[in-house]
Amino acid sequence: MDDRHGTELMVVGGGIIGLAVAWRASQAGMDVTVLERDATGRATSHVAAGMLAPVAEAEFGEAGRRVLELGLRSAEMWPRFAAELEQASGMDVGLMRTGTLLVARDEDGARELERQFAFRASLGLRVERLRPSESRRREPALAPTVRLALQAPDDHSVDPRLVLAALREACVSAGVKLREQSPVARVEVDEDGVSAVVLASGERLAGRRVVLAAGPWSGRIDGLPAGAGIPVRPVKGQILRLRDPAGPGLLSMVVRFDGGYLVPRAEGRYVLGATVEERGFAARPTVGGVYELLRDAADLVPGVSELEIEELSVGFRPGTPDNAPVIGPGAVPGLAWATGHHRNGVLLAPLTAEMLVHVLEGTPAPAQAAREREGGSPRGSLAELLAACDPARFAAAASRSSDALTGRAVGALP
Ligand code: GLY
Repeated sequence: MDDRHGTELMVVGGGIIGLAVAWRASQAGMDVTVLERDATGRATSHVAAGMLAPVAEAEFGEAGRRVLELGLRSAEMWPRFAAELEQASGMDVGLMRTGTLLVARDEDGARELERQFAFRASLGLRVERLRPSESRRREPALAPTVRLALQAPDDHSVDPRLVLAALREACVSAGVKLREQSPVARVEVDEDGVSAVVLASGERLAGRRVVLAAGPWSGRIDGLPAGAGIPVRPVKGQILRLRDPAGPGLLSMVVRFDGGYLVPRAEGRYVLGATVEERGFAARPTVGGVYELLRDAADLVPGVSELEIEELSVGFRPGTPDNAPVIGPGAVPGLAWATGHHRNGVLLAPLTAEMLVHVLEGTPAPAQAAREREGGSPRGSLAELLAACDPARFAAAASRSSDALTGRAVGALP
């Protein structure tokens, strides 16, 4: 790491991504402060269902392929990440290796699921096609009307609230300073790059290295030069927490269906989510959103009707224009991004933290990764993954530093 500006790092955002980055950066010897607008982990990460499901979430298209590659890589990291976090914090993170069932309830749904099966098979992903009788043998609570199911045996889940509590504890133990109730209003930039972060209270915190991990609020930080910001939008999700008074056993796997999912937790609890709505920061749940989730879930798993509703909440996924994340150095030297994880923030937390720490330690920027590719470096290197998440893909062409054109590691945090 270059010592010109010391080892201080400010991380804006205390959700699962910000805390994971802060924890790993602190382990790498940095002096880290997290600036959180509310309490750590009270926003998107608190609402998230916690599916570690790259196979189930796989989407068509080029950006979908990038997200899949990131997801597979991060899913592989999760067991070790969870074990290390549990050890560091002394807290359970609720990793459940259940696998996932994707279920169709009518002919149209079955046709779509066949298409999804062929797509995943063509990518070499591990997924098994199940006839209705076999799907009900494996998950007896499914309705007899189920037409087809796919089992993704490697798609698991974790409890994000437990992960957040553990990350917070691990960060504090590692010496990370957590400043809660400290919304960031703007960053200051001078000729050398980022120079300070200014809180909404007016307090100015000087610093030459900043990671923006503010989830759906990442696009709202003022002070960046034109074209250097990232357009992040909130994608609303309504989600329910349910409890079976009869105890555990209704479902053993995550069950996904068109428009939602049911994620089993310990002690007979289930998460039922989630709507996907482009409504800005509209924070109230709606009758229509909740009705459809409950109707569809109870159609597929009739026992859902007997569950108690413990909580109804709304969260905002951070979405970029291509719905792929933005991880790495941007146009302003000293400022890196770790945002835009959309539906995959929990899944991608370990990988994001590893990628960011490599950036902070001065590993290659995307332009260099491109040269590595030409030179035949192995597929999926961290540099390649960084290239896939390059913030520059959203920057106005004119704002791109000429350094990028000459191949220097522009924006690599000093
Ligand atoms: N990852 C599930 C969701 O965003 O609803």
